Amino acid sequence: MQWKRRHCCTHAAKRFHLLSLLGVLVFLLHQVRLPRFTGMPWWRGSPVVYGGGAYHTTKAKWNASSQHSGWRFVFVPRPNIQADGNASSHEKGGVPSPPGEPRVENRRPAGEPSGPIAPGHFPYVINEPEKCAEGEPLPFLVLLIATEARQVEARNAIRQTWGNESVAPAVGLVRLFLLGRTDGELGLAQQRMLEAESRRHRDIIQQDFTDSYKNLTIKTLMGMNWVAVFCPRASYVMKTDSDMFVNTEYLIYKLLRPEATPKSDYFTGNNMRGFAPNRNRNSKWYMPPELYPSDKYPTFCSGTGYVFSGDLARKIYLASLSVRRLHLEDVYVGICLARLGVEPTPPSNAFLFNHWRVSYSSCKYSHLITSHGFHPNELLKYWHHLQSNKHDACINALKTRAGRMHRVARGKAAR
Ligand SMILES: *[C@@H]1O[C@H](CO)[C@@H](O)[C@H](O)[C@H]1NC(C)=O
Ligand SMILES: *[C@@H]1O[C@H](CO)[C@@H](O)[C@H](O)[C@H]1NC(C)=O
Ligand SMILES: *[C@@H]1O[C@H](CO)[C@@H](O)[C@H](O)[C@H]1NC(C)=O
Ligand SMILES: *[C@@H]1O[C@H](CO)[C@@H](O)[C@H](O)[C@H]1NC(C)=O
Repeated sequence: MQWKRRHCCTHAAKRFHLLSLLGVLVFLLHQVRLPRFTGMPWWRGSPVVYGGGAYHTTKAKWNASSQHSGWRFVFVPRPNIQADGNASSHEKGGVPSPPGEPRVENRRPAGEPSGPIAPGHFPYVINEPEKCAEGEPLPFLVLLIATEARQVEARNAIRQTWGNESVAPAVGLVRLFLLGRTDGELGLAQQRMLEAESRRHRDIIQQDFTDSYKNLTIKTLMGMNWVAVFCPRASYVMKTDSDMFVNTEYLIYKLLRPEATPKSDYFTGNNMRGFAPNRNRNSKWYMPPELYPSDKYPTFCSGTGYVFSGDLARKIYLASLSVRRLHLEDVYVGICLARLGVEPTPPSNAFLFNHWRVSYSSCKYSHLITSHGFHPNELLKYWHHLQSNKHDACINALKTRAGRMHRVARGKAAR
């Protein structure tokens, strides 16, 4: 009897061990293999709650004791995108939305309704209707840069660096800063300066909506509409922010390649896949279920910098007319793309579009497209350094490294 019981139990224990081993194996397989199919890296885990636009890998060193512990990046807010965006005023509602629900599951490729397109919900205060038509050749790339009236320094730095039309003289490059209106007395003063700046540089478009973080979607749609109406034959468009470093040359010559036939229905950037709406009411990025009921966002590209074929400007704009407006601009554009049945193309390597700041080296910066979080002075400094070092940036880096190793080796030999 005793023997029998022991036998039975060790037997059961063995089976238990085997089962748990199998369980662990299945779990590991699930963690590593499944993402291959879903496209989500296994270290990111289950859907990450979207926190606004940027995770700074440099700042968010992960911390085992914090609530965000585990194999995933921690999201931190993008503080400098619209510094006067007031967290406490970011409750639900606020944005005037055309009727319609974000029915992303219901994909229908939008036809291509031709004919005139309305100029948008808000009238232009400043416009550049001839900007695209006057130049030869047709613009290859239109840069749409979200900015605010007070960011004069940032605009000037961009004009002198990555937004300078002479970066790619052989292909047409159009630079446009996107702005809304600032209210109040300060707004009036800023408006006068902005108009003078516009007369001087002819690179500003502005519509009559309140310039705020929550209205970033309106601002982006203004840019899309501008391309659709005033520059419909542009090959590509990039939407980015004023605190970005953009390697325009690499973007044009290495990624988009003017010698190739321009793509259509093409959208790329830092792909954000499998992100979930933030349902924390106290968060700046709170997404009320009434506005977005689904528990997952479609794949979208970080608003710090995404690139798309010119034909999509019109299609996205038209799609937006029947997609309820959300204040998270990059998510919103992703929803419009899902409506159109356009899947963002992942970049050929994960280091091209960075929505955090990549530590500077001329070698790294000559092989990336975006890096985030630049003060105008830094932009000027790094840009000029890159210009004078870009041709042998990586060779020089190797030489320095080899030299250092050589010295170390010699030092050891001498001892
Ligand atoms: C880790 O997180 C805990 C709790 O959030 C915090 O007290 C601690 O200082 C953090 N450690 C580091 C190194 O950031
Ligand atoms: C944010 O908004 C609240 C209430 O609307 C106001 O009391 C507060 O001063 C604002 N903060 C900033 C930094 O503008
Ligand atoms: C753009 O670059 C050209 C050539 O390097 C330079 O002459 C011009 O001054 C630059 N434009 C601005 C606004 O800095
Ligand atoms: C967005 O702009 C519209 C039009 O100017 C304005 O009515 C609305 O209050 C703005 N929303 C926010 C959140 O600033």
